[in-house]
Amino acid sequence: MTLTRHLPLEVVRLCYAEDVRSRANIPAGRLAQAFATVPRERYLGGGPWDVFRLGDYITTEDDDPRHLYHDELVALDRSRWLNNGQPSALAAWFQLLDLEPGNRVYHAGCGVGYYTAILAEVVGPSGNVLAVEIDPELAKRAHVNLAHLRNVRVVAADAITYDPGECDAIFINAGVTHPQPLWLDRLRPNGRLMAPMTVVQPAPYDPKGVMGTGHMLLVRHVHENYPASFESIVGIYSSPTGRDPAFNAMLGKLFQETILGKRADIRSVRRDPHQPAETCWLHGEGFCLSTEAP
Ligand SMILES: C[S@@+](CC[C@H](N)C(=O)[O-])C[C@H]1O[C@@H](n2cnc3c(N)ncnc32)[C@H](O)[C@@H]1O
Repeated sequence: MTLTRHLPLEVVRLCYAEDVRSRANIPAGRLAQAFATVPRERYLGGGPWDVFRLGDYITTEDDDPRHLYHDELVALDRSRWLNNGQPSALAAWFQLLDLEPGNRVYHAGCGVGYYTAILAEVVGPSGNVLAVEIDPELAKRAHVNLAHLRNVRVVAADAITYDPGECDAIFINAGVTHPQPLWLDRLRPNGRLMAPMTVVQPAPYDPKGVMGTGHMLLVRHVHENYPASFESIVGIYSSPTGRDPAFNAMLGKLFQETILGKRADIRSVRRDPHQPAETCWLHGEGFCLSTEAP
């Protein structure tokens, strides 16, 4: 039972949005308002729900949707540590994408579509969101959940190889070891890409190594240059594809060297052919995370 059970759900949702706004440190604009508008329960299905609290999942004692209006992870598939992400984290990352009404957004790893609906609300009817999900069952649920939104299209596909076409913003919602050159190619002038660059280390609680930790990489496309930075730490479900074991090992070492609150001083993604140099933080085929200014 919740203390707020006598309050209208709209009021509870508004208080949740204000909590998310404050924790994410975002203005009271379109994005914060979207959290007050989009019903989380519509996407997560019927309760009770498994909510991540105090380091473990607990099952809510009933199916009152008010349980969903906290800044918490909610299991989509508890056996796989696959969750509907933490609202304030997603809000902070979406804010960094500088979304505008009319933008075309690519949401890779949409799960059951809650955050796709938030993105769709922010870009409005003149914009649109392409949502891609690799898990066919989740893609089917997202398709049904989002069918009422005319500015959303859901595709069951692997976002590592799927070509989304030109985008103003690309949000990768699963851990990878490096940015795909295709994503950079598809950024319009002034386009923005955000992707979690993570390291996976199998642990007793995660023998298959599905959870990764690392940093969110933000990249912009400005006059054929790609200024970039690491923006925040992240713990997230990994993409089964788009992970290179050599980069995973290298990232692990590099992130270890930049702990204690310091982020690697990445300043650009270089796309010009060049030999690995001291300024190359992670040097790959078609991309290089570099400490050089763009
Ligand atoms: C951390 S969950 C986030 C789900 C959803 N965005 C949410 O917060 O409710 C990551 C999602 O990305 C999907 N995913 C992982 N790798 C993918 C890929 N290569 N292409 C498309 N989807 C992928 C997973 O199946 C999962 O649904």
